[in-house]
Amino acid sequence: MKKTLSFDDVLLVPSYSDIKSRGEVDLSVDMGGNLNLSLPIIASPMDSVSEDEMALAMADAGGISIIHRYNTIERQVELIKRVIAEHYPINVGAAVGVTGDYLERAYAIRAAGVNTICVDIAHGHHTLMKEALDTLRNKFNNSLHIMAGNVATLEGFNDLADWGADSIRVGIGGGSICSTRIQTGHGVPTLQSVMDCAKSDRDARLIADGGIKTSGDVVKALAAGADAVMLGSMLAGTDETPGGVFVDKYGDGLDYKVYRGMASRNAQMDWRGKSSSPEGISTTVRYKGPVLDVLQDLTGGIKSGFSYSGARTLSELHAKAEFIRQTLAGQSESNTHILSRR
Ligand code: XMP
Repeated sequence: MKKTLSFDDVLLVPSYSDIKSRGEVDLSVDMGGNLNLSLPIIASPMDSVSEDEMALAMADAGGISIIHRYNTIERQVELIKRVIAEHYPINVGAAVGVTGDYLERAYAIRAAGVNTICVDIAHGHHTLMKEALDTLRNKFNNSLHIMAGNVATLEGFNDLADWGADSIRVGIGGGSICSTRIQTGHGVPTLQSVMDCAKSDRDARLIADGGIKTSGDVVKALAAGADAVMLGSMLAGTDETPGGVFVDKYGDGLDYKVYRGMASRNAQMDWRGKSSSPEGISTTVRYKGPVLDVLQDLTGGIKSGFSYSGARTLSELHAKAEFIRQTLAGQSESNTHILSRR
């Protein structure tokens, strides 16, 4: 049986570096399909993460946000227009599904001005994905960046690339709010999926999605072959996410915001009025303030990570990174551990 690796199972070996300042590190990436990012970070298409405010902030920081699809077409278009009206041209994406009104939605969001469309379904290696990608590629030719997912395997990655995706979200069941693996028994640790899909000889770009908790995990995902990462929980709780702040919700002096899986019971009830076989949870996370502060810390950590590998660019990181596997004792040494000695 194949052994698989998660983020915490591995470390990157520090190697010779001649990088004197983090300013020398360039995080920009060509995502194909006319999408260029100066920060390889994409905000998840979730209703507790990505609406207009997140889209503006992410574009400002050099990344991109995918405005979620758990709303009416009119509402999604209104959110896009708010972003486009403030800044144009701007990198902004929006999600569609593969059934129902997805084509009408795709036309509407395209007309509203997005440059990226994300075909967003839980099990992307699916015949309905093939039909949707065929149709969308046919209708839009190369005028739009088409992102698609999610997949967990090289076969899935290659198929979505062959069906017309410019970039592919890789990771099933690894998200912080996911219960897919518990509910269905299916999934692959995200880092393993990234390592497997990075072997692809197709041109499509790889987005590591689900389970990224720290800037170190971002560096590991990129070093394993990802071109960009998609983040939910790391951006959740910031000012720019939808929804209000619960001030001192638990009487602990701390403030919170909601973060929830789109297949959670709560989210399903809100967007389709019923819930069946939830594959995610709804929770609260600590309120974090402006997302730009979070992104600044994250960028600092990522650039520092590149410098430990002696890499000035993503392609240098891909070439130079060397992974080692760590033991349980190594994992506890890797975490700050003085507190456990008390
Ligand atoms: P993180 O770990 O960044 O993960 O919070 C975000 C990613 O999780 C996926 N997602 C889900 N997966 N059930 C799932 O199994 C859900 O309800 C759910 N909602 C989101 C998605 O890929 C997202 O980018």
